[in-house]
Amino acid sequence: MDVKWASRIAELPPYLFAEIDAKKNELIDQGIDVIDLGVGDPDLPTPDFIIDALNDGARDPANHQYPSYQGMRSFRVAVAEWYKERFDVDIDPDTEVVALIGSKEGIAHAPMAFIDPGDVGLFTDPGYPVYPTSISFAGGTPYAVPLYKENEFLPDLDAIPDNIKKQAQLFFLNYPNNPTTAVAEKGFFEDLVDFGAKNNILICHDAAYTEIAYDGYTPPSFLQTQGAKDVGIEFHSLSKTFNMTGWRIAFAVGNAKAIAGIGKIKTNIDSGAFQAVQHAGIVALQNYKQGLADRIKIFQDRRDIFCKGLDEAGLKYDFPKATFYVWFEVPDGLTSAEFSSRLLTESGIVVTPGNGFGEYGEGYARVSTTFSTDRIIQAVDRLKETKF
Ligand SMILES: Cc1ncc(COP(=O)(O)O)c(C=O)c1O
Repeated sequence: MDVKWASRIAELPPYLFAEIDAKKNELIDQGIDVIDLGVGDPDLPTPDFIIDALNDGARDPANHQYPSYQGMRSFRVAVAEWYKERFDVDIDPDTEVVALIGSKEGIAHAPMAFIDPGDVGLFTDPGYPVYPTSISFAGGTPYAVPLYKENEFLPDLDAIPDNIKKQAQLFFLNYPNNPTTAVAEKGFFEDLVDFGAKNNILICHDAAYTEIAYDGYTPPSFLQTQGAKDVGIEFHSLSKTFNMTGWRIAFAVGNAKAIAGIGKIKTNIDSGAFQAVQHAGIVALQNYKQGLADRIKIFQDRRDIFCKGLDEAGLKYDFPKATFYVWFEVPDGLTSAEFSSRLLTESGIVVTPGNGFGEYGEGYARVSTTFSTDRIIQAVDRLKETKF
């Protein structure tokens, strides 16, 4: 039989990294040494103390059964305590936290709780591709709010048309930002709270990168802003902070009704994160400073090497204060896709074309510093020799 795909998936563009991977594998099959600076997936291992905690948790038979859908209470308490210590924000572990199987899972499911067919979901562009897809999966219409360099890659909230604001139910944003590496300060979050309150739009702030910051900079949480809990939630992940991308553990915190909404969706879809992983997550959060500065130093040194290479290659970028990415302008006369395709075929370097993060990413490319320092040095050498 001919299996019919629902339009929700039939009309999807190919997942960004799947397409790049196919091209990359073709070259590897031809014997070419490809340096992949594409995906933001830390190469460094998860710290030993967290692995030990997983071991302990896995040996406890109490952890072998279905977890509770909102997360173990001890995990939610650890989240609330971490928010208090790190951001001085009070979170009620019983009503204002839900554990997630990675923040991607929470982001992908959230619109189902808040969007009806015909509603609009706002998201910043360029951005994490899951925002618009999850809005469409819920039957909504994604509306891209552009991030421009001249506005320091912050959205111009006043430029969002009134009719869009009327139909919009939620707004996905992310600072420190992937892919632009931009950061948001308190003043912007205050404007965002006003915007959410005035327009009755749920702010969904993705804070996956707040712990990856450089040169003494400490990114704020959206929830530190007065009134933020009335209008929004924040997604957080252990993936990037603790090199735990494969473990799938994260959480959402904030507005109790919104958290309950996500919980309601999850009860019908999944059965929560493995409790041994939650147990390891508790230990990670309780000792979050352990080794963090050393891990960040490695990413910071790589950032410096790559940025120096960009200077030498004459390519423009904003020096990143946070995240493990560098977002740079492609040479004049080339599109993002042409640039990344030529870099891959002529120099064997994978960078992510900016348009893969949305139409407003055109003209840019992103590299991730989650690859070994040696490979980054090699990539920089190759980049400098490439003629565009
Ligand atoms: C901006 C952003 N949000 C969320 C995620 C998802 O992270 P995880 O599902 O591992 O928590 C990523 C992963 O790359 C990301 O870049």
